Amino acid sequence: MSKYIIEGGRRLVGEVPVIGAKNAVLPILAATIINNNTSTIFNTPNLKDVEVMEQILVSIGCKVSRVDNVIFVDSRNISKINIPEELVREMRSSIILMGAMLSRCGEVEISYPGGCEIGPRPIDLHLKALRQLGTIIEESHGFLHCKAEKLKGCDIQLDFPSVGATENIMLAAVKAEGTTIIRNAAREPEIIDLQNFLNGMGAKIHGAGTSIIRIDGVDSFNSVEHNIIPDRIVAGTYMVASAITGGEVILKNIEVEHIQSIIAKLKETGCMIYNNCTTLKIIGPKKINAIETVQTLPYPGFPTDMQAQMIALLSIANGTSIVTETIFENRFKHVEELVRMGANIKIAGKVAIIKGINELTGAKVTSKDLRGGAALVLAALAANGRSEIEDTFHIERGYDCLEKALLALNADIKKI
Ligand code: EPZ
Repeated sequence: MSKYIIEGGRRLVGEVPVIGAKNAVLPILAATIINNNTSTIFNTPNLKDVEVMEQILVSIGCKVSRVDNVIFVDSRNISKINIPEELVREMRSSIILMGAMLSRCGEVEISYPGGCEIGPRPIDLHLKALRQLGTIIEESHGFLHCKAEKLKGCDIQLDFPSVGATENIMLAAVKAEGTTIIRNAAREPEIIDLQNFLNGMGAKIHGAGTSIIRIDGVDSFNSVEHNIIPDRIVAGTYMVASAITGGEVILKNIEVEHIQSIIAKLKETGCMIYNNCTTLKIIGPKKINAIETVQTLPYPGFPTDMQAQMIALLSIANGTSIVTETIFENRFKHVEELVRMGANIKIAGKVAIIKGINELTGAKVTSKDLRGGAALVLAALAANGRSEIEDTFHIERGYDCLEKALLALNADIKKI
């Protein structure tokens, strides 16, 4: 297993380009199944999760190739309707393949995605909505057998603005008979990117980015070219890297509109932030201010995928901060590792109480999940002394060449 060795205490300085969003390219790769044609996707990140999705497409008969950050998919010869179990286990978000496969083939067999490090990750909202659209779903031996003679558009009220469920419904409804309305839809920018990709191949979708999305079913689709939106969570992570080391970092090729909640919170900690629409400079303060409260919420609220990074930052603030995780059940696994680095953090249910200390100290820690692992890297960058971070594979699922980017920003990091 690989690990990062980080000598902390260096100010990060320099420029970092931000690549396309993992959570946009994954549903868009699923969508390439539907057009029975070719899709060319630009600005894609080189990540394990993206590779797994590419392998899934190949396993059902698609031709997939990648040159640098461009992925080319030809979905004209889909020959299988079952998604390989070992690939679904590797990446639970492959559940959005259900909607795409039902649109294209009217049938799909997929194993029940396990829970993961951050909670049970149920899919009840997905299954309820697909059944409303006319899908027969049998669950047996850990598999979901789904069949839909003809998907019929309908009104769907989501109990929770689930990102994956919203995407699954959009993918299943683009070819359904009639109109589908999703109410209480997720409003994340990745949903807008998926709408733009689907409309680019001939779908008729309106309202992504708001709580009500309308999809009018169409019969056929064309080839499509698309540019993935920048990764707002990778951008936020580099912003915290600058903040936590008192650095001065410039982020390029970002979408500032997508990170307003992160900008607001980092300004509260005392960071100076200057930006135009696609570039941002963030200067970390000498001492981080504590923040009375940070609550993770569905977009446009503060993102749950930035909760761990924020806790790492607040662990060296001048005072006590409260962070509440309202989206996932079990997303504080990074806290015990931060405590090993000297942090003073107490967990009470969904709430983390962070009593800022003067300085973290380097230690041997283990990443337990993607964003928690990123938070440990940030803490190690600021800590006094040497840290070793094990199980970096979690981090590499969501960060393209993290150590290369941090080295370019003057960090002392190596991967062994
Ligand atoms: C997406 O996951 C993202 N993943 C997550 O990013 C992100 O944290 C999450 O949205 C919230 O923003 C991808 O886009 C690939 P949800 P998803 O459905 O779709 C519950 C990362 O680090 N729920 O909005 O799985 C669920 O248990 C990852 O990049 C149900 O109860 O998130 C969770 O508590 C981590 N029933 C909450 O809703 C359902 O049927 C949010 O889930 C579906 C979800």
